[in-house]
Amino acid sequence: MKLDTTSAGIAPGSIMADLAHRIRLVLGDITSLNVQAVVTAANESLRGGGGVDGAVHSAAGPDLVAASRQLAPCQTGDTRITPGFNLAASHVIHAVGPVFHGGNSNESDLLASAYRRSLELAAAHQLPSIAFPCISTGVFGFPADQACVIAIDTVINWLPKNQFPETVTFCCFQATDHSLYCDRLIELGMISEG
Ligand code: APR
Repeated sequence: MKLDTTSAGIAPGSIMADLAHRIRLVLGDITSLNVQAVVTAANESLRGGGGVDGAVHSAAGPDLVAASRQLAPCQTGDTRITPGFNLAASHVIHAVGPVFHGGNSNESDLLASAYRRSLELAAAHQLPSIAFPCISTGVFGFPADQACVIAIDTVINWLPKNQFPETVTFCCFQATDHSLYCDRLIELGMISEG
């Protein structure tokens, strides 16, 4: 599937190629990544859950929920940061994406906010690297193609203006998501075909 880059306000190629070395795309389990900050797709209670949140809590150990619940509630579109405990990552950023209710409930802005607030926390803590899952696209039901555009565009708008994080990894757990990200990043000149 090819996405329309012009409708999202980002021109493919040219300047975008300068950012290519700061963006990575992987298919796999986010808990296995060697990055400073792992983002988890949380809910407002920050008490852990299933999906990527379950995987992150299980890999980090019980100290994570003890730390995160103290920072609750976390409003939709907002984030909190804790240590990574047993993870290789030094920090976990708990990002609360929106539940998708059809698209007319400010879901896109809230999803962009979850990504942007994560980047803000990484910058505030001067963390060189961050990895994102596909926030809201599982239990919360956000259409994967739209979420992919929002995720990439939010990161691309952030990077040229900010030193931190130096690198951003998009970690897809499903091949279909990886393919969407791949197409979008190729169109923007961030990765090359082949
Ligand atoms: N690594 C990377 N990505 C993963 C992993 C993993 N180990 N496990 C699942 N995912 C992917 C899913 O494939 C999906 O693309 O994470 C994405 C987000 O799905 P969910 O985890 O269901 O997150 P979300 O839709 O934001 O729903 C959040 O689910 O478990 C609860 O506590 C969580 O209530 C919150 C809600």
